[in-house]
Amino acid sequence: MPDIESVVAEIAESLSRRTDRGKVATYIPELARVPIDQFGIAVFMADGKMFVAGDAETPFSIQSVSKAFTLTLALGKVGDRLWSRVGREPSGDPFNSIVQLEYEKGKPRNPFINAGAIAVTDTLLAGHAPKEALGEILDFVRFIADDDTISIDEHVARSEKQTGFLNTALANYMRAFKVLEHPVDHVLGVYFHHCSIAMTCRQLAMAGRYLAFSGRLPGQNVSVVSSERARRISALMLTCGHYDGSGDFAFRVGLPAKSGVGGAILAVAPGKASIAVWSPGLDQNGNSVLGSLALEQLAKAMRWSVF
Ligand code: DON
Repeated sequence: MPDIESVVAEIAESLSRRTDRGKVATYIPELARVPIDQFGIAVFMADGKMFVAGDAETPFSIQSVSKAFTLTLALGKVGDRLWSRVGREPSGDPFNSIVQLEYEKGKPRNPFINAGAIAVTDTLLAGHAPKEALGEILDFVRFIADDDTISIDEHVARSEKQTGFLNTALANYMRAFKVLEHPVDHVLGVYFHHCSIAMTCRQLAMAGRYLAFSGRLPGQNVSVVSSERARRISALMLTCGHYDGSGDFAFRVGLPAKSGVGGAILAVAPGKASIAVWSPGLDQNGNSVLGSLALEQLAKAMRWSVF
């Protein structure tokens, strides 16, 4: 088996020379300001060692990667009842699409497209004021990453709100079908803020440990979720984590992973590693170009594909 330290270093080295980096997201103005020439990678291994390269200590907006964490929290809160409100099938449509909602009576296809994640966030508001629900999400992310310094980038949250016309449409649509139970502005306030959590690759790789290691934090006697739940969340990451690019990502990389328009991808090699990559340039589906390439190279070199 190749040495992970040199594999990580070589990937960062070779990608630093690439000029085809996609385009940064512009529909959230604050994300459009992020310099494109950045790439970071962090790999947390089963033995507790972490290997990093490139801009692994630079904070970025985790965006839709947060949806893996809110899904975990919502399942903890309502269990399988969540699936009466949100489906578990790939959508094959862009992450912000509204078309399927009309055909499917306001029930989103899966928890990772925007509509599904907004419905998941609604679940987290039960019995809570928006600030409390957000506090619960942030506390959970700090706990799984073992890092109390993780915070929300208020500039990004404000920027998302100012241009969140499509998300507002999705939320109103679902509210009309009673898929949302709370006021749309409360739900979207919490949603925009959890998408605006800022983390580094190192912090994100730490946060993904429970998904990679059967619900547990390796080396610590802590169980975050059951192994069955970790497996099921990973299955959804594999089938839906890259929106209408999920099939291609599974074909190329073969790992459960969740992407975000900030350019981050959290991937898990079950039982082997939790991996975070970040590069802000995106492809046409809103997934990081260099991040996907890095994971493709890493999975191939380490033979980590689940297939
Ligand atoms: O709601 C949005 O559009 C963003 N806060 C999150 C979208 C996202 O990250 C989709 N990713 N590829």
